[in-house]
Amino acid sequence: MDEKPVDSLSDSEAASELMRLAQEIAEHDRRYHGEDAPIITDAEYDALTRRNLAIEQRFPHLVREDSPSRRVGAPPAEGFAKVRHAVPMLSLAKAYSDQDVADFIERGRRFFDRDKDLNIAFTAEPKIDGLSASLRYEGGVFVQGATRGDGVVGEDITANLKTIADIPKTLKGSGWPEVIEIRGEVYMTYAEFEALKQRSAAIGGQDYVNPRNTAAGSLRQKDPSVTASRNLKFFAYAWGYTSKDPAPTQYDSVQKFAEWGFKVSPLMVRAKSVDELIAHYHLIEAQRSSLGYDIDGVVYKVDQLELQRRWGFVTGEPRWAIAHKFPAEQAMTTVRRIDIQVGRTGTLAPVARLAPVTVGGVVVENVTLHNEDYIKGLDSNGQPIRDGNDIRIGDTVVIQRAGDVIPQIVSVVVDKRPPDAVPYEFPHKCPICGSPATREINEKTGKEDSRRRCTGELICPAQAVEGLRHFVSRGAMDIEGLGAENIDLFFNAGLVKTAADIFTLRDRRPAVIKALAERREEQARQREAASGKTRKNVRGVEERNYEGLDKLFAAIDARREPELDRFIFALGIRHIGETTAAVLARTFSTIEELIRIGKETAAAADPHSVFPSINGIGDTVIGALRDFFGNERNDAVLEALLTQVHPKPYIVNVSADSAVAGKTIVFTGTLERMTRPEAKAMAERLGAKVAGSVSAKTDLVVAGPGAGSKLKLAAEHGIEVIDEDAWLERIGKGS
Ligand code: IVH
Repeated sequence: MDEKPVDSLSDSEAASELMRLAQEIAEHDRRYHGEDAPIITDAEYDALTRRNLAIEQRFPHLVREDSPSRRVGAPPAEGFAKVRHAVPMLSLAKAYSDQDVADFIERGRRFFDRDKDLNIAFTAEPKIDGLSASLRYEGGVFVQGATRGDGVVGEDITANLKTIADIPKTLKGSGWPEVIEIRGEVYMTYAEFEALKQRSAAIGGQDYVNPRNTAAGSLRQKDPSVTASRNLKFFAYAWGYTSKDPAPTQYDSVQKFAEWGFKVSPLMVRAKSVDELIAHYHLIEAQRSSLGYDIDGVVYKVDQLELQRRWGFVTGEPRWAIAHKFPAEQAMTTVRRIDIQVGRTGTLAPVARLAPVTVGGVVVENVTLHNEDYIKGLDSNGQPIRDGNDIRIGDTVVIQRAGDVIPQIVSVVVDKRPPDAVPYEFPHKCPICGSPATREINEKTGKEDSRRRCTGELICPAQAVEGLRHFVSRGAMDIEGLGAENIDLFFNAGLVKTAADIFTLRDRRPAVIKALAERREEQARQREAASGKTRKNVRGVEERNYEGLDKLFAAIDARREPELDRFIFALGIRHIGETTAAVLARTFSTIEELIRIGKETAAAADPHSVFPSINGIGDTVIGALRDFFGNERNDAVLEALLTQVHPKPYIVNVSADSAVAGKTIVFTGTLERMTRPEAKAMAERLGAKVAGSVSAKTDLVVAGPGAGSKLKLAAEHGIEVIDEDAWLERIGKGS
């Protein structure tokens, strides 16, 4: 859309412009205030609000109810609207043994006794441990999605569900009912859960307990872009209201769902007898640990829809289905010790060291105790857990592999407590560096943080080694060949104490070779001990030619001029993730400027008198910058680092000769190989302009999975659309 001068707008043009601006600005507000993920620069944002204001001044009678000029700051947080399910969302009866399953089938046979030659078939499929959701499609278009709620009334989370790639926005194929509520499970994979935990740990963010709770939290986000970043998944397995049966049987209905574009469990089968069902149960159980997501049983359903209808329901449950639960995998053991581990951001994490015990085929020796309240037997709201029993060294405990990956303590066997066991005293000093360990007050809730944190920052070796690992990691400096293992080695050998030392390793080549040789020696010794064989002569290892080393030194040298946003992120300042680092880079352009403002902000009585107001940067980040730049020890480290490393100034429109220079680009959908801010920064570095919405001025749309209305707009304007790989190819970063 070309922007007409305000002076030449007609009444109706002004009205539609105001509507567009209200929507666009609201969208950008959401991104800024919600999850710190702006997609336009402050200048672009200001231009939008200025234009809105100018139009309103000329056409005061057209000022909208929802005008951005009437809003102060972020829109008020709202709950989700309630949705009454057209057909209630039921739960399932449970079976805990083969006998329970046999009884279920016998009940069915008895019920249909009059039809002696009736052939009841059943389906068997995994019971996914996630959250159920109901997705309403009208005319093949996804119109509304809701949580289960109490089964009768749920919450409208349509916008969040739309970010899930496994949920089609429009149904594929043909033959779908005019109206159908598709039901299934939203879940999070272990890989995604671990990645989120790591991202959060890197910025000292919150801890996540398990994939299911995290998926639940992700679905209830006010800001769908946060949900999108969690990469949730969905399996379709049932339906609620439908204007016609998808197919005559359960099995074929679900296959239809797959044809219409849903993901369905590949482990669903049709079976005829108890034996076949139980056999499939064991087959699924055997694959459980390698699925990559939590399941907690196998669901059996009568296959023929006609028979489902005849057998019917009891309160809240179908008679024709049952969930055969996996036995809880539990074991009893004793707590030998409680250790405190210190993470990169200084969090004191208690770990119980257990007498080794096998739970569900895996030996468990350690279990996290989360924090000091958890050890006392309290949750984060001060409510009792485990019957209020605390955990003491020497205690006998029952452990369980929750969702069957993460072991946890389910109860304490108080009867077996040794008479001399005393309540555990959580240290108030860092066990590594001796600095005081304190509990912060959460800025938003005013509550004490559940975790205690070491205040030693850079003098604390634990934080230093974790900080170094972070410094070289992929999203940060990304030094190839210098992973956590080598960092640990060099740190323990005293070769690398701070990040600056990494860049002088080349000068200390003999010492590096010695450290590597010693590790090799040690590994060989271990292999020998494990195999029981004696070693041949391994002398001469020092003389080996370490060609790998030259590669490593070259990789280090290649990072002496990092992009500014990477560099800022690599510093590992609390609460500064990739997105915030990119915003800071864009705002301050050089590291020197960031340091200057950082120090002035730290010294000022009122930080806001110095630090500019930047969309998406709140008091938490400003506080973290103050702490960092106000600490002299950090000064010294940073100064040494900047003699070795020279971050590139963040300058927009530098490369007039790149393939995308001067082009206006829109990113949409989920990017899989980089974050949005990374993509935007990359494009801008190449001289492109990145816009938030598609218009006639757009030259190129880069679309990932889940791209929606922007694709349609692009097609209408005849704009070129490419995927992420093609984009990387075009800018010369393809693999
Ligand atoms: S069928 C009328 N199939 O289990 C039948 N449910 O305890 C409705 N669940 O709320 C459910 N995997 O969240 C069905 N393959 C599956 C399932 C499944 C997980 C959940 C679902 C439901 C709960 C019932």
